[in-house]
Amino acid sequence: MAEEIIIVQGNNVLTGDVVVSGAKNSALKLMAATLLGRGTTSLHNVPLISDIAIMSEVLRCLGAQVDRQDHTLVVDTAPVEKWETPYELVSKMRASIAVLGPLIGRFGQARVAMPGGCQIGARNIDMHLVGLEALGVMFVTDHGFLEATTPHGLVGAHVVLDFPSVGATENLLMAAVVAEGTTVIENAAREPEIVDLVNMLNAMGARITGGGSSLMEVEGVPSESMHPCEHTTVGDRIEAGTFLVGGALMGGPLTVHGIDPSYLRMAVMKLESMGCDVQTGADWITVRREGPLAPIDIQTLPHPGFPTDLQAQFMLLAARAEGTSAITENVFENRFMFAAELARMGADITIEDHHALVRGVDGLQGAPVSSTDLRAGAALVLAGISAEGETRVHNIGHVDRGYEDYVGKLCSLGAEVARATVDDVQPSC
Ligand code: EPZ
Repeated sequence: MAEEIIIVQGNNVLTGDVVVSGAKNSALKLMAATLLGRGTTSLHNVPLISDIAIMSEVLRCLGAQVDRQDHTLVVDTAPVEKWETPYELVSKMRASIAVLGPLIGRFGQARVAMPGGCQIGARNIDMHLVGLEALGVMFVTDHGFLEATTPHGLVGAHVVLDFPSVGATENLLMAAVVAEGTTVIENAAREPEIVDLVNMLNAMGARITGGGSSLMEVEGVPSESMHPCEHTTVGDRIEAGTFLVGGALMGGPLTVHGIDPSYLRMAVMKLESMGCDVQTGADWITVRREGPLAPIDIQTLPHPGFPTDLQAQFMLLAARAEGTSAITENVFENRFMFAAELARMGADITIEDHHALVRGVDGLQGAPVSSTDLRAGAALVLAGISAEGETRVHNIGHVDRGYEDYVGKLCSLGAEVARATVDDVQPSC
């Protein structure tokens, strides 16, 4: 079957203004949260990406009505009567596990397919389960499915997470909001997408305090008191960071609009340390660079630490720096696969367990490469723009999962990038 790829010419141009879409890693959970309000919720600034389409299918499978009107999703969950998600959809997108908490909150039970791992790691959900068990949920695994019941109802508890897991915090929140009594979540995730979810849940009638801090308190309310709302998804900080890296790599100036700069403090600090000039406004960030890229040391950590979802993009910057950089990946166990693809373009990277030593090189050459996860795919396209010659990026389904119209936005910034099917591309012989 013909495969769609992205073809990139190394013209080294990426400058101008681009508006980022709504945050994928928020919108998916906001969609799941609509299950807690029996009625019609309008979600604005929802990105047009394949993961959103899959989550829409998951909600439709449960009985919801989901209509898209441009970047607004209108979700009516009044008709939802099912609490089981099909394996086929969960296996397509592991983030569907985000419906576990709200289904338990709404029905007191759920049957969801166990999410698989992915290229970057096992993606276990033990913290989700331990936390929900503390709230009175009982789990049984049954032929690849997770059966959740609450024989004595959902009861508030004091939960301490081993690790500030984003997904575990979200599932816990969406069950705790309708538990009997108060829930405390210690060592909660602090990502901006968590704050976005807290704001929407509170607009639906929940009583959550401490969103964005590691100590959150949830005062349970009756399930039937939760109601639909209208909510606008925050801008996608990882998409914004990806374009800013492109601007830093090519020199810019490049401005991203529709993003709260406070979401990217660490990434901006690292860009400045590498020799970039960064200006910010209420909802925009501009990057430019005249001098050489300086090497950098990066440790990926939960927010507000350096985001793992920008690790591949900064590895690309480090590959072009004047000197040697060190990158440590502390969040996922296998998120350095991008390095091997970048090496095919001439990068000089040594991987030792969770550490990458990146020796800067003067230039990269275009080459056929393969995207190993959505962030690596986006970074490979940027690498191609900065390289000499043509780059063909395969497995671009990963990119389409998390970047709305990535090719179109790059072209609007002067890049020579296009989608093509392999049949259209003359084999280089
Ligand atoms: C979310 O994944 C994001 N995905 C990821 O973005 C992001 O990298 C990650 O948070 C960290 O910021 C979505 O929101 C859809 P975690 P999530 O639970 O919730 C381990 C992207 O590129 N863990 O914070 O799965 C886990 O295996 C994607 O947009 C357990 O061991 O992240 C991982 O190593 C990639 N047990 C680490 O913790 C658990 O119960 C962080 O996971 C839960 C997590």
